[in-house]
Formats: sequence, C-alpha cells, structure tokens
Amino acid sequence: MAEQVAAAGSSSKIQADGKQSVPDAAAFDFVIVGATGDLTMRKLLPAFYECFRRGQIDGSAKIIGVARSPLSAEGYRSKAQAALKDFVASASYDDAISRDFLGLVQYVSLDMSGRDADWTGLANQLSAEKERPRVFYVATAPKLYVPTADAIAHNKLITESSRIVLEKPIGTDQATAAEINDGVGQHFTEEQIFRIDHYLGKQTVQNILALRFANPILERVWNADSIAHVQITAAETVGVGKRGPYYDSAGALRDMVQNHLLQVLSLVAMEPPTAFSAMDLRDEKLKILRALKPMSDHDIATDTVRAQYGEGRVDGEQVPGYLEDLGAPVSTTETCLAIRAEIRTARWAGVPFYIRTGKRMARKETTVVVQFRPQPWAIFTDNPEPGQLVLRIQPNEGVSLSLASKDPASEQYRLKEAVLDVDYVKAFNTRYPDSYEDLLMAAVRGDQVLFIRRDEVEASWRWIEPILRGWEKNVRPLETYPAGDQGPASSDELLARDGFVWKESIQ
Ligand code: BG6
Repeated sequence: MAEQVAAAGSSSKIQADGKQSVPDAAAFDFVIVGATGDLTMRKLLPAFYECFRRGQIDGSAKIIGVARSPLSAEGYRSKAQAALKDFVASASYDDAISRDFLGLVQYVSLDMSGRDADWTGLANQLSAEKERPRVFYVATAPKLYVPTADAIAHNKLITESSRIVLEKPIGTDQATAAEINDGVGQHFTEEQIFRIDHYLGKQTVQNILALRFANPILERVWNADSIAHVQITAAETVGVGKRGPYYDSAGALRDMVQNHLLQVLSLVAMEPPTAFSAMDLRDEKLKILRALKPMSDHDIATDTVRAQYGEGRVDGEQVPGYLEDLGAPVSTTETCLAIRAEIRTARWAGVPFYIRTGKRMARKETTVVVQFRPQPWAIFTDNPEPGQLVLRIQPNEGVSLSLASKDPASEQYRLKEAVLDVDYVKAFNTRYPDSYEDLLMAAVRGDQVLFIRRDEVEASWRWIEPILRGWEKNVRPLETYPAGDQGPASSDELLARDGFVWKESIQ
C-alpha cells in the first residue's frame, strides 16, 4: 500500500527499503455527527485513540462531537473516557495518553439535520485554514444523511478540503440509494464522498489484493481452469441484540451481503487493476459487481436459502430465538442465508461463488475458501481432497494452503493432507488494528481507495434487489435453524448438488 498512500498525497515517508514509516502526524478537523451513539463510542473514538497513540494525529487536530444531547464539552469527554476504558484493548489503554487524546475532543450540542438551529458553536470550532482537512462523519440513521448534508451546505461549512463520510447502509434498495447519493451529491462531489464499508478496513480483506497481485504463483492459477469453486462465509454467534428494529427492516441480505460480502467477492474475483489507485481499483471491482448473473425467480428458488434462528445454545448458553429477541410475534426477516452466485466473465465461467452469512451460528468466523480442482488423472489410489486455500479474515487472521503429501507413517505409498499455515499475528508480531483505524485516517488524507464509489453501491443493489423481491413473494420460503447451529440443511444441499461441501471450522 506504500506507493498508493504516497500517490494519494500523504505525508508518509517511504524508506529506502521500500517500507512505509509511520506517517507524519495529521492535523484536521473531524466532526462526528451522532457523537453520543454506539458506533462513536465503541469504534470511532477508540480507533482515534489508537491512531493518536501511534503518533498519527497532530496535537492541533480537533475531533468535534456533535449530537442533540445537551452536554458540556467536559461532560462529553467523561463519557468518551469511559468508552475508551471499555473499548480500547487493555494492552493499549493508558490513562495519561487517554487524557492527552481527550484534549483534542470537543463537543457541540446541535441538531444537525435542522437547518435553522444555531450553528455558530460548531462554526467557531472549525479552523479557517482552507487546506486543512475537514471531515464530517455522519454516524446517524441513513434517513438523516441528506438533511445533514443540506444543513452543512446551508450553513456554508463546506470547504475545498471538506469530505463527508457515510456509514452503511446506503439505502434499502436501488431507489432509496439513489435518493441518498443524489441528495448528498448536490453539495459534495463524488471525490468528497467517502462511503464506508468497514470490511475494507480489515487488514485481511486488504490483504486479498496483496496475495493475489503480488504473488504470481497464486495469480496464475486464479481462474476457472484451476479453481472449482469459492466459498465466502461470515458467521457470527451474536443475535440481533438491541438492534432488532433496524435489523428486522434489513435482514442478512441487506445487512451483510449488499455491502461487506459483495466487496469481498469483488476483491477475490476482480481483474488486476492497471495501477493501485482508487479509480483503477474501483473500476475493476465494479466490473465484477456488474458481471454477477442476475437472478430470476427460478434461480432464487433453487440457488438461495434464507432462514431465521430459533432458540438454542450458543457457546454453552441457552439463548432465545429471533422473535423473542425482537419482541414481535411474527417476522419473515432472514438472519441467515446462503446464495450460489455466478460471475459472467471469461476468468470465472462455470465457477460457483457461494456466499453464506448468519447470526447465532456455531462460531464467529469470516473466511474465503478457494477450492482448487482435482488432478485430472489421478495416479494415487487414495487421493485426498484437492488443495484448498483458506483466507482467514477473522479471527486467527492468516492464510493456509492444504497440500497432499506422502504419509510418512504409512508403509505403503499413501497420501495425507498437510497444511501450510501462516498466522499473520505471529508472522508479523504485531497487533491487528481495528478496521476503523485505517478508514478514519484514510478519510482524513482524502484517500478513497478503501471507500465505495457510487456506481459500486448501485451495481450491488441491482443484483440484490431481485432477490429481495423474490423473497418478498416467497419464491424461496423462510426456514428456521436452532441458534448455535451451522444454518439450515438446505444450505449444505446448495453445495452438495455441485459435489462440494462447506468448509467448517477453520480455527
Ligand atoms: C455490520 C452489521 O455492518 O457488520 C452487523 O450491521 C454485523 O450486523 C457486523 O454484526 C459484522 O462485522 P464484523 O466486523 O464483526 O464481522
């Protein structure tokens, strides 16, 4: 990523050995709209704290929390301090650093979606320097994105160095996504709009590109000639918790697939970009999203599975079912799904991509499994399963390749699977940063490589929407699965039909 960062105008220094040194500390004004919310407390402030601790943030930077609560700056800082204590890893937390960091934090009580509120408090906090990055991070409900952008513009706070960061979900379908993009786009140019997908902030997701495009040994076999199928799994043990009202209107397809998993899929499947720049990279991802085979009602009936968790046991604990979590007598929202997707390109013709995600599954695990084709002519009688490359996105970040080897313990020439495994944490002897650390600093630098372009959002919705509509028509009925399970049996059948099985437990 070194060249790309340099190309994006960062002040990072590239050392003679090509390694990137710690970037110069950045000075900026960062306005967090929705500053008392869960995301700010659990993710944004702890991520900023880590960046500050690493020396990436200049002492003149300002992080300005904005929310409706009538808090003083001091009151907000003590809330923030409690959040840091709770959510920063104990190995990183330090009272003195936290105090210094909180010295950068300000608070303004303001309803930002209300154009006529008194904005002078916020305006006074912002530096008049034109070149200083000014970021508005909208960590609120999506229905407030456009009113917030309108109000920021109405109050003349947009400078040339301003950017707006929008959390997912961008809309709930094609039409509502277009409304948000059009509305925000009236005031901010596409180069100023940073649509976050926190999966792109994960080191292991970024590493898909390094593995593919910096290792010709992999890239040369990365196609339909050598690869039989690809599995992308994002399983979670948590239920919907307090997010029931949001989740029930979204479901797993909107919550995880439209954004995170389609992004992962496009990184796995894309052609090499001409250069490692935001424009080229996103052009290639977009081509994959556009090449996804549209699903007819018939495909939806045969190639998708949707299910909802009932009560069960997770991590040894009895947990209630989705309806009880939601506090509603009925709901047809899916909390788990599996989809068999196809990509209509020369590279991937005939290679199914299976996507699976679910809440209240047996374990928390996000992986990409690349299954290589078997030997066309097997000379060994006991051929073990052909090679699998497993990218462990989380936990136990790493990569493994299973290979057939001669079993030294057998008297005859027998084969056994041996696994080449790299555990990134051990290999690099480093802490794995939270996704938001990279993303926040990239937004400050104005580097869009890790953010989603408008046409990507639109292409994802174009593929997702027929599935949503098909499910609304009950083309594929909703099933149930007990909490703590692997999802319904029909998700196994989706692969079994093609002669494959899900890889379980990579830990
Ligand atoms: C969020 C979804 O975007 O991603 C959540 O809204 C989900 O429902 C979360 O739990 C998963 O993220 P991660 O980083 O834990 O895999």
